[in-house]
Amino acid sequence: MTQGVPTTARAHVNVALVKYWGKRDSRLNLPATGSISLTLDGLSTEARVAFGDTAVDRCEIDGVAATGEEAARVVRFLDLLRDESGQTARATVVTRNTVPRGAGLASSASAFAALALAGSRAAGLRLEAPALSALARRGSGSAARSIFGGFVEWRRGEQADGRDSIAEPLLGAGEWDLRVVVAITSTAPKAISSREGMARAATSPLYPAWVSGADADLAEARAAIRARDLEALGQVAEHSALKMHAIGLAARPPLLYWRGATVDCIHRVWALRAEGTPAFVTIDAGPQVKVLCAPSDAPRVAAALQAVPGVERVLTCAPGGDAEVLA
Ligand code: DP6
Repeated sequence: MTQGVPTTARAHVNVALVKYWGKRDSRLNLPATGSISLTLDGLSTEARVAFGDTAVDRCEIDGVAATGEEAARVVRFLDLLRDESGQTARATVVTRNTVPRGAGLASSASAFAALALAGSRAAGLRLEAPALSALARRGSGSAARSIFGGFVEWRRGEQADGRDSIAEPLLGAGEWDLRVVVAITSTAPKAISSREGMARAATSPLYPAWVSGADADLAEARAAIRARDLEALGQVAEHSALKMHAIGLAARPPLLYWRGATVDCIHRVWALRAEGTPAFVTIDAGPQVKVLCAPSDAPRVAAALQAVPGVERVLTCAPGGDAEVLA
């Protein structure tokens, strides 16, 4: 083991275009299917990790000491870093999100990708990107993708230990300029976590169809990204998102992340499309609507969403870059 030094790293949020929704191993965060995402600029987490300056693990998030499950999750991740590095000291973790507070967009993906990069360096490890991706995945599945910028595919993998369940870049952030316009329809805290949502999904009669359809969706998205074909990518992204939410409706107990304004935003985007603006909806485990479109159409899409009753604010994001060490 080399001696680690306190390290600060930053990683961006990503939005899945072909969703991760279901696990084949919940301890290792191994997904039931592959997924494809776009990393977003402007929405990120900076994490500083220092081992050895404290008698117990400490974690502060946006200036507030973490408690409960949030703190326990970080400590479990630090234990994993200690296992992998031989480092035995306790650590201080300080994270800061550039995601607007209370926007319902705070992301475990950017947080655990930044923690994997900063924490591994601070523990004395120098990991290549694939190993970093596997490490980030242990904190939160979608964090495996936030190690990379631009368009990213997280391979399902076949191995029981997850060593081949890692993300890899498909197209860099600078290689295809798109926008994701985010309509925030509620700033209430998330009611059902992704982990719990995925556990419920497994009870849905639609779940087997979701799993068996994933490879076709992934192939379609990969080909669309390769061809830089917004229409094709948008169509499969919208299909994947709506299918994911349909699983929840048929789950027991049922699960519906949408609010009224979420539905109104979907209809507004479909109306824009009917008028000739290529814009496509995706929705994660919450009520916010994310719309994929060309940079030149983003102002029109943003104005249309802002005018939907119940939309609190709108953000526009460009593709974001790789996770990086800042200091
Ligand atoms: C709907 O990565 O947050 O955003 O692995 O349990 O931490 P855990 O789940 P998480 O799930 C993300 C779900 C999603 C779709 C996606 O990002 O692919």
